[in-house]
Amino acid sequence: MSRLRIGIIGAGGIAQDRHLPVLLELKNQAEVTAICDVNIKTAEQAAVSFSQPFITADYQEVFTHTDAVIICTPNKFHAEISIAALEAGVHVLCEKPMAMNAEEAEAMIAAAKKADRKLMIAYHYRSMKEAQAAKRLIDEEEIGIPMVARVQAMRRRKVPGWGVFTNKELQGGGSLIDFGCHFMDLSLWLLGSPKPVEVMGNTYNTLSTMPNQVNQWGKVDNESFEVDDHVTAYIRFDNGATLLFETSWAANVKEDKEHVSISGDTGGVDLFPLEVNQAKHGLLMDSTMNWVPGGENPGLFQMQNFIDACKGEAELIVPPEEAMEVQKIVDAIYESAEQGQSVQI
Ligand SMILES: NC(=O)c1ccc[n+]([C@@H]2O[C@H](COP(=O)([O-])OP(=O)(O)OC[C@H]3O[C@@H](n4cnc5c(N)ncnc54)[C@H](O)[C@@H]3O)[C@@H](O)[C@H]2O)c1
Repeated sequence: MSRLRIGIIGAGGIAQDRHLPVLLELKNQAEVTAICDVNIKTAEQAAVSFSQPFITADYQEVFTHTDAVIICTPNKFHAEISIAALEAGVHVLCEKPMAMNAEEAEAMIAAAKKADRKLMIAYHYRSMKEAQAAKRLIDEEEIGIPMVARVQAMRRRKVPGWGVFTNKELQGGGSLIDFGCHFMDLSLWLLGSPKPVEVMGNTYNTLSTMPNQVNQWGKVDNESFEVDDHVTAYIRFDNGATLLFETSWAANVKEDKEHVSISGDTGGVDLFPLEVNQAKHGLLMDSTMNWVPGGENPGLFQMQNFIDACKGEAELIVPPEEAMEVQKIVDAIYESAEQGQSVQI
């Protein structure tokens, strides 16, 4: 089959740092035929390593040049551009979070179904080799029935001081919708994608709204800071499983932490690093593996899966229906924090 023609919409940080380098590596399978950015200079700069892709500031012009697009704009435009692409018959890999809210996510799924095109969300933590191995072990019932997930996704004083990450209108929120959502997705997937039924959440921005705070990732304007920088939540699922969740851009902790832990009835799996404990012979055994096969670049794994899925040769590693469940929980945490009580989904 000929190479998949891929367009980039939104050619800033993540497009240039992750997706375009990976597409160069996969150039035998995919060709970058269009690059779009409202800032045309950004699109031109992103195009330098490729053989003269079509450059435009208008995303509507991309679709006639492409079989698939990667949407890397601020969150506010994810749904609008995904739906336009799908309606034009083009497959979509959309950056995370899926959308600004679950209603938009639902409309994206409906458009994908109607057009019979692929829609994948770039929750790339699933593509890490340790996460793939953890999922395999859980699916093979090596920890029994997964019951409780714990997430701590903590950055020590690292509020993004660039781009639009702290712009509520463009992004919909802060640490939860930007960073925590990856770990929400990962833990739901490892739990076996149960349906969330009740959410209790709290959001904070105390630290970032105080004057003269030190920050490792650039300057934060405490007077205009309007999104969450720290979030806690308790999520109950229809099968009785629960998730204890904490994420932060600005925690007062010794060091950054990305920890997902799944307890089952006969064992437990921890990420990152990958560790396994199994109850056997009346003992709790350390079953940690000596070698985890797979590549070191989850962006490459993710893109390969998307290309294969577009060709009809693989299932999507992040189906949109599962990303929508993350969105529902994110919405519910924000709602619960605002109302000061738990929210039923
Ligand atoms: N998967 C990850 O780990 C990860 C990491 C960083 C960012 N992201 C996601 O990627 C997206 C972009 O983030 P970024 O860091 O690249 O931001 P960025 O600001 O560096 O780039 C966004 C680009 O989109 C362009 N743009 C804005 N509106 C547009 C429109 N309507 N049409 C075309 N171009 C438009 C901007 O000019 C900008 O160049 C966000 O949704 C973010 O959540 C994901």
